[in-house]
Amino acid sequence: MDTAATVKVLNFKDLGALGSAKKKESKSRIIIGEGVVTKDGLLEGLVLELFQRQLTSCVVITDSNVARLYSQEIVQHFSQIHKTSLIKLPPGEESKSIDSSVKILAQLAKLGFDKEGLLVLLGGGVIGDLGGFVASIYKRGVKYIQLPTTLLAQIDSSIGGKTGVDATWGKNQIGTIYQPIGVIIDPSFLKTLPEREFLNGIGEMVKYGVTSNARIFEELEGNSNFESLSELTHMIEPCVKIKAKIVSRDPNDSGLRSILNYGHTIGHSIEASSNYKASHGVSVLFGMLGEGWIAHELGLFQKDDFQRQELLIKRLLRKRNNNTQFRAILSLRHEMLAKFALSDKKNAAGKLRMSLPDRIGRMHINEDGTFKIPVSLDLFKSSFRYMKSIFSET
Ligand SMILES: NC(=O)c1ccc[n+]([C@@H]2O[C@H](COP(=O)([O-])OP(=O)(O)OC[C@H]3O[C@@H](n4cnc5c(N)ncnc54)[C@H](O)[C@@H]3O)[C@@H](O)[C@H]2O)c1
Ligand SMILES: [Zn+2]
Repeated sequence: MDTAATVKVLNFKDLGALGSAKKKESKSRIIIGEGVVTKDGLLEGLVLELFQRQLTSCVVITDSNVARLYSQEIVQHFSQIHKTSLIKLPPGEESKSIDSSVKILAQLAKLGFDKEGLLVLLGGGVIGDLGGFVASIYKRGVKYIQLPTTLLAQIDSSIGGKTGVDATWGKNQIGTIYQPIGVIIDPSFLKTLPEREFLNGIGEMVKYGVTSNARIFEELEGNSNFESLSELTHMIEPCVKIKAKIVSRDPNDSGLRSILNYGHTIGHSIEASSNYKASHGVSVLFGMLGEGWIAHELGLFQKDDFQRQELLIKRLLRKRNNNTQFRAILSLRHEMLAKFALSDKKNAAGKLRMSLPDRIGRMHINEDGTFKIPVSLDLFKSSFRYMKSIFSET
C-alpha cells in the first residue's frame, strides 16, 4: 500500500509478546499520520495489514465524549472490513475499574465476539488501559489496536502494552502487559481535545525530557506556553520513539523501563488520594517536582538542572492552573499519600524506591546497573511540604 505521502510507519522489532504469541508475529507497528482517520480507505487498509488475516468482527471501545465526535466515522471505516459494534463507557478515570472490565467482557460475549475479531480502542489513556486489559483476558487474549485520541495517549499510554485498572488500594494495581498488534496515531484527533487535557500530555513530555532526552526538555523550556497545536505535533514522533525504544529494550518492565516511572510514585499517590480529582499528567508534573527535590536532597540531581526543572514545571502549572484540581492536590495530607505510595509497584518489602535523575536527560544508574533508589518515608513527606511551598508563593 502506498502510504508514504502522509503516513510514517515505525517498526519496532520486539515490543514483547503480542496479542497472538506466535513468534513470527512478534512485531508491533506504530503508525503516525496526520489525517489517517479521514482519508478514504487508509485506516481500513492499515488495519488489514496489521491483522494479516480474515477478520470476523470488530468492536470499537470508546468513551461517550470521543463517541460523540468520532464514533460514527470510525465505525463506518471498520464496517467496510466487517461487522462492527460499539461499546461506549462514561468518560473519566472512574471507568478504569474492574467493574467496567467485567461489563465489557459480558458485552463482548453477548456480541459473540471471538478470537478472530479485533478490538479497536478509540480514546485516551483510560480507554487504552481498560480496553487493553479486557483484550488480554477475554478468551485468554484477543487482538487489539490502539487509536489514541489524547496527546498523553499518543505519546505514552498507547505504546508499550501496559494495561490495567485502578483498585481501591491504589492506581493501576490490577493489570497485565499485553501488546496491541498496532498503534495508529493521528494527530488530527487533537483538534478537538480540550485545552486542559493538553497539560496532561505535556506532563509526560517533560518526563521524556528529564529521563531520556535533554533536547525535548530544551524545546519545552523554549516554549512552555504552547499557544497553538502545530507547535506540539512535531514533538509527538520523538516522544513515541523514546517510549518505543525503551519498551523494546525492556518489554516486561524489569529494569530500564522503570526510568519512565519518574514522577509517578508521587504522581500516582496524588491521583489515588485525591480520589482521581487530580488528573494523571498534572499529578505527574507535581510528582516530578517532588521526586526531583528528593533526587537533589540525595545529592543526585545537580542543582542547576534541578532548578531548571522546577522553573519549567512552575511555568507550566501556573499558566494552566485549574483551580479545582490544584485545590484538591494542595489539600492532600502526606500520610494519605504515603499509604498509596507504599503500594506502588516499584516498591519492595514496604520500602519506597524511585528512579531518579542526576542530570536533565540522564537518570541515575546504581553501581549494579539498576535504577531504583531507596527513599525514606521522611524524605517523601518533606517533598510534599516542598511541593506545597512552591505554590503558596504564587
Ligand atoms: N499504559 C501506560 O503506559 C500509561 C501511561 C501513561 C498514562 N496512562 C494512563 O492514562 C490515563 C490518562 O489518560 P488521558 O489523559 O488520555 O485521559 P482520558 O482517557 O480520561 O481522556 C481525557 C479526556 O479527554 C476526552 N477526549 C479524549 N480524546 C478526545 C478528543 N480527541 N477530543 C475531545 N475530547 C477527547 C476524554 O473523553 C476524557 O474526558 C490514566 O489512567 C493513566 O494512568 C497509562
Ligand atoms: Zn504517566
